[in-house]
Amino acid sequence: MLIGNVFIDGRSAALAPMAGVAGHAFRKVCKEFGAAYLVGEMASAKGLVMSGRKTAELLSITEEERPMAVQIFGDEPETVAEAARICMRYCPDIIDINMGCPAHKVAGNGGGSALLKNPALAGRIVRAAAKAVPLPITAKIRIGWDNDNINAAEVAKVLEANGAAAIAVHGRTRAQMYAPPVNIRAISDVKKAVKIPVIANGDITDRLSARKMLDETGADLLMVGRGACGRPWVFAEIRAFLEGREFEGISLEGKFEVMLRHIRLLCEDMGEAHGMREARKHAAWYMRGLRGAAAYRQKIAQLTEFCQLEEIAQEILAVNI
Ligand SMILES: Cc1cc2nc3c(=O)[nH]c(=O)nc-3n(C[C@H](O)[C@H](O)[C@H](O)COP(=O)(O)O)c2cc1C
Repeated sequence: MLIGNVFIDGRSAALAPMAGVAGHAFRKVCKEFGAAYLVGEMASAKGLVMSGRKTAELLSITEEERPMAVQIFGDEPETVAEAARICMRYCPDIIDINMGCPAHKVAGNGGGSALLKNPALAGRIVRAAAKAVPLPITAKIRIGWDNDNINAAEVAKVLEANGAAAIAVHGRTRAQMYAPPVNIRAISDVKKAVKIPVIANGDITDRLSARKMLDETGADLLMVGRGACGRPWVFAEIRAFLEGREFEGISLEGKFEVMLRHIRLLCEDMGEAHGMREARKHAAWYMRGLRGAAAYRQKIAQLTEFCQLEEIAQEILAVNI
């Protein structure tokens, strides 16, 4: 499939943007398992324009990550347009605008999911960004503000009319935050309402949920967020399903190899001290449900050195094999 002029291999799923989770190391591992497209962690348009170094770090991308979008949020067309120009320094393939974040620091200031309440402003933001840079501009939305205001199809039409090249839809309202269920019907309504590609997101965790989402929405691409945390091989599973193959699965040893590679990359990227702090949540996800892992919960929450994680992995392997 194409987003603007950018080719995305539709026989796999995209990795959803996840602030504080889906940085370089995780994105790289997901890509190695066949993720079709990556979207970076959200960065504040205002922060970028005011040249915050920390904000700019969120935009850097490496060649292996392509095709990749950077994501910005904001509530003023001119600021978002200026931020999109700044994004160009980092050579992304696509620029995505966040219209789904429920967090108070984003939506409370009129950005993220608050834009769902003002489709005309959301449209002006997309138009301003699309005029400012020669890249496809996309938006990631939720299905509406709350159950009484499900308006994703209307918002999507406005965004399309203002130049959006694709729309990703997380099938929940802002009020739902992350609570089930995902409203697949509302995603399918978006797909029927627009001609640009629609990317379906929400609770896709394996081949069955992938099939259900595809069959019931007709979406052009699937997008996986939390289902990839501690399970980046979910992209290989979905790719196998979409290509009509059996997924050969992954052994426990294989899972730990992936975890250690992921955390090694994290340490290379951030340095061991910072990397191992970030590694704690990822390690806990990789170990979810494993026999004997609960006994290591406290150690995982206090990891400071890479070799400690290697030791824990060895010990858990010993009781599981
Ligand atoms: C920790 C975390 C961080 C997130 N950060 C972002 C973000 O920066 N931008 C965004 O558009 N969505 C963000 N999301 C929402 C996800 O992209 C996705 O829409 C949501 O998790 C639903 O998909 P899932 O059920 O596959 O996780 C975040 C979600 C989580 C759990």
